[in-house]
Amino acid sequence: MATVLQNLPVRKYDAVVIGAGGSGLRAALQLSEAGLKVAVLSKVFPTRSHTVAAQGGVGAALGNMGEDNWLWHMYDTVKGSDWLGDQDAIEFMCREAPQAVIELEHFGMPFDRNDDGTIYQRPFGGHSMNFGERPVQRSCCAADRTGHAMLHTLYQRNVRANTQFFVEWMALDVIRDASGQVLGVTALEMETGEISILQARATLFATGGAGRIFWSTTNAFINTGDGLGMAARAGIPLEDMEFWQFHPTGVAGAGVLITEGVRGEGGYLLNKNGERFMERYAPNLKDLASRDVVARAMATEIKEGRGAGKEGDCVLLKLDHLGPEVIDKRLPGIREIAKKFANVDPIKDPIPVVPTVHYMMGGIPTNYRGEVVVPMGGNPNAVVPGFYAAGECACASVHGANRLGTNSLTDLLVFGKASGDSIIRYLRENPGHKDLPKDAADQTLSRLSRLENQKGGEDVAEVAKDMRRTMQAHCGVFRFPDLLSEGVTKIKAVAERAARTGIKDKSKVFNTARVEALELDNLIEVARSTMISADARKESRGAHDRADCHDTPENPNGRNDKEWLKHTMWYRDGDRLEYKAVNLQPMSTESIELKVRSY
Ligand code: FUM
Repeated sequence: MATVLQNLPVRKYDAVVIGAGGSGLRAALQLSEAGLKVAVLSKVFPTRSHTVAAQGGVGAALGNMGEDNWLWHMYDTVKGSDWLGDQDAIEFMCREAPQAVIELEHFGMPFDRNDDGTIYQRPFGGHSMNFGERPVQRSCCAADRTGHAMLHTLYQRNVRANTQFFVEWMALDVIRDASGQVLGVTALEMETGEISILQARATLFATGGAGRIFWSTTNAFINTGDGLGMAARAGIPLEDMEFWQFHPTGVAGAGVLITEGVRGEGGYLLNKNGERFMERYAPNLKDLASRDVVARAMATEIKEGRGAGKEGDCVLLKLDHLGPEVIDKRLPGIREIAKKFANVDPIKDPIPVVPTVHYMMGGIPTNYRGEVVVPMGGNPNAVVPGFYAAGECACASVHGANRLGTNSLTDLLVFGKASGDSIIRYLRENPGHKDLPKDAADQTLSRLSRLENQKGGEDVAEVAKDMRRTMQAHCGVFRFPDLLSEGVTKIKAVAERAARTGIKDKSKVFNTARVEALELDNLIEVARSTMISADARKESRGAHDRADCHDTPENPNGRNDKEWLKHTMWYRDGDRLEYKAVNLQPMSTESIELKVRSY
């Protein structure tokens, strides 16, 4: 340990990566293989990161099951995003996806295989042939445990490449100097409680999602929006935070994910009358329409009294007709989950499911190279030197107002690698570490001192509960103007309480309480930015569906391109909102023209 600053040990790296899910591991691999000194910090053992829960596959137009084309993938992704995605980034992702998957195959990923040895691909929601004509088989999968296989593959490669892992370490705050350059992070070793400074020439956030702002979510307990909280406190705006995806098939009452791959393999949804209701809402793609469309259809069935179960508050996912061989070969994990969490064996009975919060489309603004960009000096996309983000915590923006299933894994592979490449280029041009500012750890030290010394402070668990209840009740599948504006008042009040939290009984608990309190500091920034951005957007687009903005002849589907075809930028300072144009110009192909979205 070479130096000490503000009484804290300083550890120096070329690059520090925060988060060891798919994007963090893919980026770290790129960096370590380039011979750089890389540290990866993770709150959990890397293979327990939330990517492990990804089930159904990674989208790439390999064309192993019939004709496919990255342009069709691009069209589906733009349409899925309800035209809010940036078309340069979407082109980049869809064009790079096949190579990213083949690379992973060469790293040893145990994909399912066709008889001819090629990777097996299944249909998935919103993915189509020939610009929306009919479903295509594009999702490359390892049964229904694709994320699990992916994490193990990438972790092993990183071990071989000498990536240094800091396991059970939590990053706390970003360090920026007076020019705005990012110079590393402060971090907590969870076991000992020791705080360190990790100084880096480049810092990459790959901290994943923040579904834990809601009461019911498919997200793991670790998904607390740490990267977004840190970025917001460092003055970085958060982009498009109003757009949250409800996955149609969470196990009713438990929230655990049932992969869309079930519908890809031929399963379908039924209401209490045994009606295959998606035929009414999406006559062409039916159960394989995009997720926002399916989630709204399910919520409508339940609202209108056609929900199944004792309380009429779920619908049924039928897959018994696929037969035990297909279920055990392609969906073994689903059978296990259904038995454990819904007490049904899907070989015989349908699984009760409800739309459940699953994915955050917004995040830390980046370009398609993984560089963090902010509006500055008239440039809407000025690069923040030394700062990168990839995966769910980033907003590139490829998912816009609604992400297509499988594109999360595509995103983290493509942009994980791209951000690694950007860092390599940047470090070549910027040798040596810059000096840390003398007050590098001030923000962290004052947060910790608040937690230790707040006498009679607010209880962390109670505040977190109120935040989750507020988000669930005021910012759901369908959004209502009065609920949204009330939600803003309520979430601001919860945020004020979060700023007064303290660790009450230090004799009973140790660092777990401190970690939960520090996580709440991050969650609350995500919750506040979500509610405020949602209240402000006066249209329906993708996953943001407002009861007061529905079909009119000028704005079919409630989307208002004239006024709202723009990205929201939320600034923590004063809860300020600004807007930024959507990039409708791809890199090498023609723009996908705006049109009414139907499936
Ligand atoms: O349904 C699923 O397997 C989830 C995939 C995804 O969110 O991309």
